[in-house]
Amino acid sequence: MRRSQAWFGRRDRDGFIYRSWLKNRGIPHDQFDGRPVIGICNTYSELTPCNSHFRTLAEQVKIGVWEAGGFPLEFPVMSLGESMLRPTAMLFRNLASMDVEESIRGNPIDGVVLLMGCDKTTPALMMGAASCDLPTIGVSGGPMLSGKFRGAELGSGTDVWKMSEEVRAGQMSQEDFFEAESCMHRSHGHCMTMGTASTMASMVEALGMSLPGNAAIPAVDGRRNVLARASGRRIVEMVKDNLVMSKILTRDAFENAIRVNAAIGGSTNAVIHLLAIAGRIGVKLKLEDWDALGHELPCLLDLQPSGRHLMEDFYYAGGLPAVIRELEPVLARDALTVNGKTLWDNCKDAPNWNREVIHAFGAPFKANAGIAVLRGNLCPTAR
Ligand code: FES
Repeated sequence: MRRSQAWFGRRDRDGFIYRSWLKNRGIPHDQFDGRPVIGICNTYSELTPCNSHFRTLAEQVKIGVWEAGGFPLEFPVMSLGESMLRPTAMLFRNLASMDVEESIRGNPIDGVVLLMGCDKTTPALMMGAASCDLPTIGVSGGPMLSGKFRGAELGSGTDVWKMSEEVRAGQMSQEDFFEAESCMHRSHGHCMTMGTASTMASMVEALGMSLPGNAAIPAVDGRRNVLARASGRRIVEMVKDNLVMSKILTRDAFENAIRVNAAIGGSTNAVIHLLAIAGRIGVKLKLEDWDALGHELPCLLDLQPSGRHLMEDFYYAGGLPAVIRELEPVLARDALTVNGKTLWDNCKDAPNWNREVIHAFGAPFKANAGIAVLRGNLCPTAR
């Protein structure tokens, strides 16, 4: 019996209550017949600009769920916006994960779609959902279009510091500075460099927790909506197959994610977030694993802040599947993903359209580029 039937399948007083209040939206009685109930966990907030298009994304997921014969129910969770929230979004990551966990656990949900984008929303949702271990699929909001300012590209982040110094030095006018604000972030989406948001979206895909291509499709590209709708369809099948998170988030999956993080020049923040997600699902992952598995691997991606290009270029070059294909010599190829296929099956034929953006494993952008774990009196750690 499906989990949701413990609510909707009852013929007593409580069953009346569970169904009756939902019927206020015009839901017909036959919709409580045991079909998969899909929770859409939404971090939409106007205070999280990177996730401000998530209502549209949620509607696409719902269409997919309906198409596959499921019953979608969207719910909000705490949203952590990196650009605004004081004192720091990281202070609230675990709090948000508790919101996610208890919202899933306390409600009649059989499967979950996680809508996440800005830095901390991704680990918070993955952590909370992992503690519940239901069939779950991740849908990232996607990166913004590349910033364009007076013929040059602007990436989220570094250029802000550079231009603010130029204003202080009298080399840039205040008016130009204001103009650059509109040019750097000119579309929906999260930061379009390989910062934490793009890194964590890549980690979700490398872990097998999203459909292929999730990490790099720009937020405003129609194919982002197609991916959301396909994810809505797929989660219904995952419930029928009982494809729970713990079948995907294995030790192999985390090892793959560590390797992919090296290959994309991903953020060091991935270390703390992946360790936390692994802890929730019961996989033994240690800080030392990052050193042992990743630090000698090459970086294949010429993307800011390590390199030149931006996430839009990454998508047009082939996206994460093209990077994963290059990692064949070191990949755990049998790791399962949400579409029921292995990571390798999903990526083995992935095309690479631009070798200047995604380099070959044998001719990398940077050698020995993974994360090295340092110890000493500057960073003492308890073993
Ligand atoms: Fe949201 Fe950078 S501020 S991803």
